[in-house]
Amino acid sequence: MATVNELLHRRFGVADDPNDVALNETLTSILSHRSIRKYRDEAVPDDLLRVLLACAQSAPAKSDLQQYSIVHLTDAAAKAKLAEFADTRAIAAAPVVLVFCGDIRRAQRISQLRAKPYAQNTLDSFMNAAVDAGLALQAFIVAAESAGLGCCAISQVRTRIEEVSTLLGLPDGVFPLAGLTAGWPDETRETSLRLPPSIVVHTNTYDDANFAAEIDDYDARRHAAFPIPLRGQLHNDIYGVAAFYGWSDHVARRLSQPEGRETLRAFLENRGFALS
Ligand SMILES: Cc1cc2nc3c(=O)[nH]c(=O)nc-3n(C[C@H](O)[C@H](O)[C@H](O)COP(=O)(O)O)c2cc1C
Repeated sequence: MATVNELLHRRFGVADDPNDVALNETLTSILSHRSIRKYRDEAVPDDLLRVLLACAQSAPAKSDLQQYSIVHLTDAAAKAKLAEFADTRAIAAAPVVLVFCGDIRRAQRISQLRAKPYAQNTLDSFMNAAVDAGLALQAFIVAAESAGLGCCAISQVRTRIEEVSTLLGLPDGVFPLAGLTAGWPDETRETSLRLPPSIVVHTNTYDDANFAAEIDDYDARRHAAFPIPLRGQLHNDIYGVAAFYGWSDHVARRLSQPEGRETLRAFLENRGFALS
């Protein structure tokens, strides 16, 4: 079994020495996370799935409001449609397909059920619902990976959000945050290097004084470990072919163009979210 130092080295690409932190299976599994997009043609037992969904529901939730829902897609035709809408072929073949949704509808219905006014349709409630759904998603991933499954979250379910919401029968007050495919891994992937804690974790106050140099170092580390191939360079038609193409070049090129999800606010407002 790898040591904690080895796992941290794989995660950040730099030596770390946290001394005597005792490794356990949970730490090992979380530190070894990688998204898996190819799965064996082998079902995930229903009982296991039920436990993993219970783990998802074990995530903390803001004010205990539990403002999310999970749609489990089992119908092959519906999976194929979702794969098409999300432009992600893996969805059609994945043994498990879930869509994690933010959900303020249930709270609204509870207010109605108990004959009280509902006074919290705000941007903050939208964010709470999104965070609750995201935490449930991550709890599912952690649980699934600990059981040997591989997972991949899919934000592309939001690209054609109207069609996806109609497919899933989502009522007003519910929006798809992210899909998730899961199954027994049929590919091996390396641990993807994360940004150094020195620019992500701040002590007492935010400090990015050393930002540019840290990003250069990170680019160099990632490039040495996993260079982005020429075919992976984005928008060559606009920016040309780069001799050195680091993570930050990739990110900057990606962010230089709209993602094609600019209709989200209109969608949400149309579905009853007041985003003020
Ligand atoms: C909310 C969320 C949405 C994501 N959406 C997609 C997606 O639509 N398609 C995809 O291939 N990967 C998606 N991913 C996976 C990320 O690309 C992946 O986590 C990232 O590249 C880091 O790689 P790793 O998870 O293997 O460490 C998503 C991840 C998250 C957390």
